Amino acid sequence: MQIYRIGGAFYDMLHLSLTMRKEEVLKASAIEGLGLQPGATVLDWGCGTGLSLRLLYPWLRDGGTIYAVDSSPSMAKRAVACCKPSDVLKYHFLLRDGLDLPIQEEVDVVIASYSLGVLSTDQFDPALQGIWKALKPGGRLLLLDMYVPTEQPWLRRVYQKATISFANKVFRQDFSETLLPAANKYFDTVSISHDEPLMAVTFVGQKRAQPLHDVVANAV
Ligand SMILES: C[S@@+](CC[C@H](N)C(=O)[O-])C[C@H]1O[C@@H](n2cnc3c(N)ncnc32)[C@H](O)[C@@H]1O
Repeated sequence: MQIYRIGGAFYDMLHLSLTMRKEEVLKASAIEGLGLQPGATVLDWGCGTGLSLRLLYPWLRDGGTIYAVDSSPSMAKRAVACCKPSDVLKYHFLLRDGLDLPIQEEVDVVIASYSLGVLSTDQFDPALQGIWKALKPGGRLLLLDMYVPTEQPWLRRVYQKATISFANKVFRQDFSETLLPAANKYFDTVSISHDEPLMAVTFVGQKRAQPLHDVVANAV
């Protein structure tokens, strides 16, 4: 992915100038809503420069394990630099394709922040299946991504479409209407909320005992 090779510092600068820290506030509140307890195990899928890892720290500094996967060395390098490992807080960085997760232990929570929407739509299902497998029974997925609000005056909607189209060109970031239905195959919706000015959707899902398509296939 070309944009992520340019460098983590460039990504952080662009993120800050486009969102003016409002996205950070949204993400911090979503992470707070998870109610993580010391000792929890979290996987950050597509950790990028570590914007979620920084926000996880206050919840896990007294104990926890964090796995962070990203395929871009320049993004992950910055994420590694922001971490504060200790005797009780362990980090494991995986520089690889998140579609192939070699995690040895099941985790309590997976965070995928603006990283699944980057994939092509045919990769949503394998990525979500891998996340589903990586979670403990009853584990949760926090998914943040972009969307275009529907109930909008046409001029605002044109502006938002143009913004998303720009984001697609730069980041290949594409919140597709197929992402949430794909997530619902593997996760029961715990909550879903939209931030219209940020064009951000926050989804929290709980791991289904069995993916929906397996239930349908078994019933046939
Ligand atoms: C828009 S950035 C989001 C980074 C971070 N999660 C955040 O909230 O700022 C998307 C990240 O997903 C990573 N990514 C995209 N496809 C990936 C894949 N198949 N496996 C692992 N990482 C991937 C990119 O390298 C990039 O760092």
